[in-house]
Amino acid sequence: MNTIVESRPVASEITLLRIAAPKIARKHRAGQFVMVRVAEVGERIPLTIADSDPEAGTITIVVQAVGKTTEMLTSLGVGDEILDLAGPLGTPSEVEDFGTVIVVGGGVGTAVSYPTAVALSKAGNSVISIIGGRSQENLFFEDELAAVSTELHVCTDDGSAGRRGLVTDALADVLAATTVDRVLCAGPVVMMEAVAEVTRPYDVPTVASLNPIMVDGTGMCGGCRVSVDGTNYFACLDGPDFDAHLVDFPLLAQRNRAYVDFEAKRREAMQPCAAVSVDVEAAT
Ligand SMILES: Cc1cc2nc3c(=O)[nH]c(=O)nc-3n(C[C@H](O)[C@H](O)[C@H](O)COP(=O)(O)OP(=O)(O)OC[C@H]3O[C@@H](n4cnc5c(N)ncnc54)[C@H](O)[C@@H]3O)c2cc1C
Ligand code: FES
Repeated sequence: MNTIVESRPVASEITLLRIAAPKIARKHRAGQFVMVRVAEVGERIPLTIADSDPEAGTITIVVQAVGKTTEMLTSLGVGDEILDLAGPLGTPSEVEDFGTVIVVGGGVGTAVSYPTAVALSKAGNSVISIIGGRSQENLFFEDELAAVSTELHVCTDDGSAGRRGLVTDALADVLAATTVDRVLCAGPVVMMEAVAEVTRPYDVPTVASLNPIMVDGTGMCGGCRVSVDGTNYFACLDGPDFDAHLVDFPLLAQRNRAYVDFEAKRREAMQPCAAVSVDVEAAT
């Protein structure tokens, strides 16, 4: 059991949870995630470790309520227990002094961008952060990212904060004006694919933190299979970071839609902790 020590909304339908998890906090490195099981009967879901404090023995996750498990999680408060957290999982992000790096976060992908920006800044990089969301109320971590970045560009679809437009608009402008050594992105699949296309003509190494559906998070089920340069990888072990110029994004988008009907029905039913059987074979 892991106790929640802080719970607060940071954006519309997005909640920050700080959880006691001393062993994970000690080992965590940027780019890694935890598999979270909220209650005895229910699925495990992957969530990025957005921050960790080894001295306090806590990790922070930022959760967007999109379905049954994330809604259960975001309804929990201080003192509530999470049944189990497995982690830190995944291969840490490559962190070294590349020079000038751009970190792009779309929507809840900012939870992935933030620890990467912190680690890259500590490694001596000049970090340019670009974040985006539909509206001002969908943004979070602006102050935290500003503190570790030489520039912070905020974009919203409706212009309610920062510039009106997509993160790729800001990215194109920065690339045109600045020599950039590396770009990292995290967010919706369509956004990461667009980022890859914007950076491709500049030949800038570009890394995407992929978000396939994961079942076990330990390389056993094949649910998180992604295709990169024609080779299959398991994102939970080999990733989640991959060369964005080589990822088969249409396949990732297709596989992420595999359970949409099933998930919608389950959300409608919304019987807390109802047993669910998942046809893993269908996703592999
Ligand atoms: C490595 C990794 C790190 C992640 N980090 C975070 C994070 O820090 N914060 C956060 O809020 N979410 C994160 N996600 C996504 C999160 O795991 C899913 O939103 C969650 O599993 C949905 O579970 P659910 O039962 O609430 O919703 P479900 O009912 O399972 O799904 C609801 C909707 O979300 C879509 N969905 C489900 N899983 C994913 C996925 N992996 N990626 C994109 N869409 C999905 C479904 O297709 C459906 O439309 C991460 C995913 C991965 C693979
Ligand atoms: S989630 Fe099962 S192999 Fe990656």
